[in-house]
Amino acid sequence: MDELQAIEARHVAEEELRDQLDIRALPQHIAIIMDGNGRWAAQRGLPRIAGHKEGLRALEDVLDIGHELKIPYLTIYAFSQENWNRPASEIRLLMALLEQYLTKERQRFHDRHVRFLPIGRLEQLPPAVHSLVSEVAEETSHYTTRTLAVALSYGGRAEIIDAVQQLALEVQMGSISPNQIDEARFEQHLTTWGLPDPDLLIRTSGETRISNFLPWQIAYTELYFTRTLWPDFRRCETLLALLDYQKRERRFGRVSQTVSS
Ligand code: IPE
Ligand code: IPE
Ligand code: MG
Repeated sequence: MDELQAIEARHVAEEELRDQLDIRALPQHIAIIMDGNGRWAAQRGLPRIAGHKEGLRALEDVLDIGHELKIPYLTIYAFSQENWNRPASEIRLLMALLEQYLTKERQRFHDRHVRFLPIGRLEQLPPAVHSLVSEVAEETSHYTTRTLAVALSYGGRAEIIDAVQQLALEVQMGSISPNQIDEARFEQHLTTWGLPDPDLLIRTSGETRISNFLPWQIAYTELYFTRTLWPDFRRCETLLALLDYQKRERRFGRVSQTVSS
């Protein structure tokens, strides 16, 4: 098969997948652990950063599908608290890539009316990256129909601890009593406040773990694990994940028949 034939075959496959999709039963919030960039590069004898660059192209495909299907919320894991333990050279390149990406995509957020919502301990980012991230967040904060949350220097346990500290302060100051702390009030102190819980969590690269991503928010999320490495997770792979999601029955602890009653 030559290159053109391969592209055509992929296009047909995508259309077939798209036709199977039930447009009325799409997840409203998709969370993604974009993993496997380093392995993708290693398989090709390339430096890890080449995998991260290709990973951005995959992200573009997934965001395009999200836009076309009008999925209101997407949350992506871009850099974890634990990723600070990587070699300084990789961290530097990742931060530079983030800066380039945001500079390039900034206008597209406006064109598509997407709110860019960074979550995580943003103050730990290099100052230039921190201010760019804050500026883009600020200038897109009025868009309400679609949100792209990007987890940067994010750790789920740290997020929970931050919320607990704020609640403890409120109790100490006498503005609430301990028995007023319920799930709804707790969630108000999470960085994801205002976002519905994810319906679907995708993790690429064959790892079947959560790696400290949204541990509170995914209590009832459908999990989808695929061996595909993130840079290879493109339009067809996204549709496959959505079709798999649509085969699931979300019971939320109830018995089957009572789900829709
Ligand atoms: C995910 O790919 C991207 C980030 C964590 C920033 P990895 O860099 O973790 O790639 P692998 O898991 O080593 O293949
Ligand atoms: C999770 O991937 C973090 C991101 C995708 C940003 P990692 O590659 O850091 O996770 P582990 O180390 O395999 O758990
Ligand atoms: Mg990894």
